[in-house]
Formats: sequence, structure tokens, C-alpha cells
Amino acid sequence: MPEINPYARLDRFIRAYAEKPGGLVRVLQKAQEIFGYLSPEVQTYVARQMKLPASTVAGVATFYSQFAAVPQGKNVINVCLGTACYVKGSGEIFAAFKKLLGVDADETTPDGLFTLRATRCLGACSIAPVVTVNEAVFAHATPETAAAIVARYRKEGEERKDAAEYAGLGRAAATPPPPA
Ligand code: FES
Repeated sequence: MPEINPYARLDRFIRAYAEKPGGLVRVLQKAQEIFGYLSPEVQTYVARQMKLPASTVAGVATFYSQFAAVPQGKNVINVCLGTACYVKGSGEIFAAFKKLLGVDADETTPDGLFTLRATRCLGACSIAPVVTVNEAVFAHATPETAAAIVARYRKEGEERKDAAEYAGLGRAAATPPPPA
């Protein structure tokens, strides 16, 4: 089956959501899902298609911590540093990740496998401290959980590489079409 141009995929979504409340946030979420991050080109494209000022799109893209303006690792680790998680030790978990991965907050490992981010309350304080990796949620995390997560996702990364499925998986690179 021929691959659909990522901008065409985004256009379909824009058509469906442009007029809906919160449409811009939904469109940017979709754009990030398709492209992996919101590059300046993608932001400009969204502004053009939605007939919005570029500053409005950039404002939303930078306001929400879920959006990234630079390429993200294959696995995005979020450690909640909200109050409930912090008092239960998420600061130590975050420090453990930094040490294990050799990166600071908002940085990506050189192999592109992990991006480490700190987040605010995820609304799941009853299972604090909380760590998420992509869509997966890890409850009552500890520094040992951090070590187990890194080991598990590294192993998975190796297996995918072996299966030759790893490179560029889920990430679309394309040039936006010229303005009509
Ligand atoms: S403070 Fe972490 S989930 Fe609420």
C-alpha cells in the first residue's frame, strides 16, 4: 500500500478539527504524532492551513509541555515532579534517570533512544510517584524502577534494530508542500 504523504494526513485532520473547540491543540497533537516533533516548518504549515497567525500556533506549541520543538527520542520518559510525587521521592527518580542516561532534562540520548523530561502533576497522585514512558504508566516508581525501565527499553531498542524495523519508525520526514 503506498504511504500517504504526512502533510496530506495532517490536512485531513485539520479539515476535521479546524472549526472545533480546542481544534488547534488537537491538530498540533496530531502533527507531533505524525512528525515526532513540531518543527518550525510544521508550525508554519499548520498556521497557514488553519489561517491563524504564526504567533498563535507558536504560542500554543510552547505553552504545553507535551509539545516538543526539537526531535524527541524513540522513548520519551516523563518523571512527575508535582508535589505529591516529589514528596514521595520523584526527585531521586529523576536524578537516577539523569545518571543512567547521561542526559539532563529535555535532552535526548545520542542514540536517539530516550528523551528525559520532567512534568507537572499528571492527575494520578494516588499512585505517586509516577513515571510515564510514551503511553505506558509506571506507578509507585523508585530509582530501581528507573533502572528497570532503561534496561527494558534498551533491550527492546536492540531487538527492533535487529529486526531492521527500528530506523525512522513512526517518524515522517517530508517537506511541506508550497503554498497554493
Ligand atoms: S503530583 Fe504526580 S501525579 Fe500528581
